[in-house]
Amino acid sequence: MKSSQNIVDFLVIGSGIAGLTFALDAAKLGKVILISKSALDEGSTSLAQGGIAAVLPETNDSFESHIRDTFRTGAGLCKPSIVEKIVQYAPKVIAQLSEFGVNFTRRESNEKDPQLGREGGHSKNRIVYVADYTGRAVEDTLISAVKSNPNIEILENYMAVDLLTQHHIPNYSLRPWENIECYGAYVLDIGSGEVHKILARKTILATGGSGVVYLHTTNPSVSTGDGIAMAYRAGARIANMEFMQFHPTVLYVQGEQNKRAFLISEAVRGEGAILLNAAGERFMPKYHKMLELAPRDIVARAIDIELKKSGDPCVYLDIRDKGTDFIEKRFPNIYENCFKHKIDITKELIPVVPAAHYICGGVMVDEWGRTDIENLYACGETAHTGMHGANRLASNSLLEAFSMAKFCIENIEREGFGDKKIPDIPEWDDSGVFNGNEWVIIRHNYQMLRTLMWDYMGIVRSLSRLKRAHARVQAMWVEIDDFYRKNPVRRKILELRNMAYAADLMIRSAMSRRESRGIHYIVDFPETDTRYANDTIIRSSGIYRESHLP
Ligand code: FAD
Ligand code: SIN
Repeated sequence: MKSSQNIVDFLVIGSGIAGLTFALDAAKLGKVILISKSALDEGSTSLAQGGIAAVLPETNDSFESHIRDTFRTGAGLCKPSIVEKIVQYAPKVIAQLSEFGVNFTRRESNEKDPQLGREGGHSKNRIVYVADYTGRAVEDTLISAVKSNPNIEILENYMAVDLLTQHHIPNYSLRPWENIECYGAYVLDIGSGEVHKILARKTILATGGSGVVYLHTTNPSVSTGDGIAMAYRAGARIANMEFMQFHPTVLYVQGEQNKRAFLISEAVRGEGAILLNAAGERFMPKYHKMLELAPRDIVARAIDIELKKSGDPCVYLDIRDKGTDFIEKRFPNIYENCFKHKIDITKELIPVVPAAHYICGGVMVDEWGRTDIENLYACGETAHTGMHGANRLASNSLLEAFSMAKFCIENIEREGFGDKKIPDIPEWDDSGVFNGNEWVIIRHNYQMLRTLMWDYMGIVRSLSRLKRAHARVQAMWVEIDDFYRKNPVRRKILELRNMAYAADLMIRSAMSRRESRGIHYIVDFPETDTRYANDTIIRSSGIYRESHLP
């Protein structure tokens, strides 16, 4: 690490679309350290298949329509000002990514304009994509730009442990009216096991999602809710954590359910694939007029009901009608991955089940990405802007992540760095810890927590299961925290600790929402209740509800 003793202008935590986009612009304003707890490209961004929702000029689409679809899917909780701002920014996102070198799939008849795909909840074709590996194309392009930028120091396999605030100043007692300030983070060098202090004028949380809290998830192993847990511990407000979105269709492979689930993009249904149960019956007509392209919560719940009723392990997607040439060209990644599992999707049905996919809640930010904590910004999946409400519209997240990274920078450019001095913060102190060689506790709790969340806080919830889940997570938390305090820090314990925080925030939020809305479906309160047309907010001092609706 080159800059350990200096104060850097920006500390960017995370190297997905949000962190990389921010870092590239920040590098025009000052020195950036970009840390990532694994390989740079390991994150949800690289796995994104479907694409980026955008209303492009000279199409028969409109911003109003994209905004309306986002609101309708968000089930009454979207924040209008942020939805409008981001939807209107979308054409610039596509233009800027194209300028960076992302080669979006073009229409055959018109080489200049991108081809537009369709996904659930959209009333028009407006998904801009690169075949079925949009995220990989975006991530690789941004990484090569970051790597060639001399103002960005990249630290791979460095993991943020906790944010630095006044809480770390020895003998400092924060007064109730005082703003919490962020001065950077304690960061673990995963290779050496050493913890460094990185002081920064501005710190950006871009740590992605928290799907790994669930046993079955599309998310990569890095998505353990670290940013949300760190911000919560530092005193920021966290919103709407009950809204974990389940993707309806991931590949079902017998015996491999505990591995990361391989996504079968909604774009496959967008191109005409239909869902069948094991009896060969097309079941979506029973559930929604938009059939297979209904919003995700509806499709995921329909599959859940079909599976519970029949006792079958999976349902099936049928895209065979589209023909071999089309399928191989449009979905090369999906075709190849299924083929590895001996499924030829041009000739056979694809076995699918739902899995945890995207957390709509997160660290509360304003329209410029500012958190409650001074000099701490958040963008990407870890942040809660109000864009997604109670359910995210497909392909609105890469859009939100890129746009918000830009808005954070715009705000910093306008406000400047301020003239506050960074106080003396002690080095990380691990005296008194010893390796008790009891790491089995971590493995055990990791499995228990993920199983518990899947079984008790899944697609369909009940108050009694949530209460049990809450009690169990509390008990696990005590064990995990005790382990954390006594042992040297390692990636696994830090992740598990953060997962326990995220799970606790999710369960408490779900218990407090006594209605069903969007992705949160609870059998005790099956109807939507207008008294809950507001956000669930948790901070360390407690839980409350707040409305941003006009
Ligand atoms: P990520 O890309 O997940 O990056 C997070 C980064 O933070 C990683 O580099 C990680 O290593 C790092 N990190 C985490 N914790 C720490 C820590 N403590 N210290 C240091 N580094 C840390 N959205 C769409 O809009 N369209 C799609 O087609 C689409 N398809 C998807 C397909 C899949 C399979 C998945 C999983 C998601 C998909 N999404 C899609 C959602 C979208 O990809 C994500 O919401 C988005 O990529 C998140 O970007 P991000 O930058 O916030 O986080
Ligand atoms: C998909 O391709 O189905 C994922 C799109 C998304 O999560 O937005």
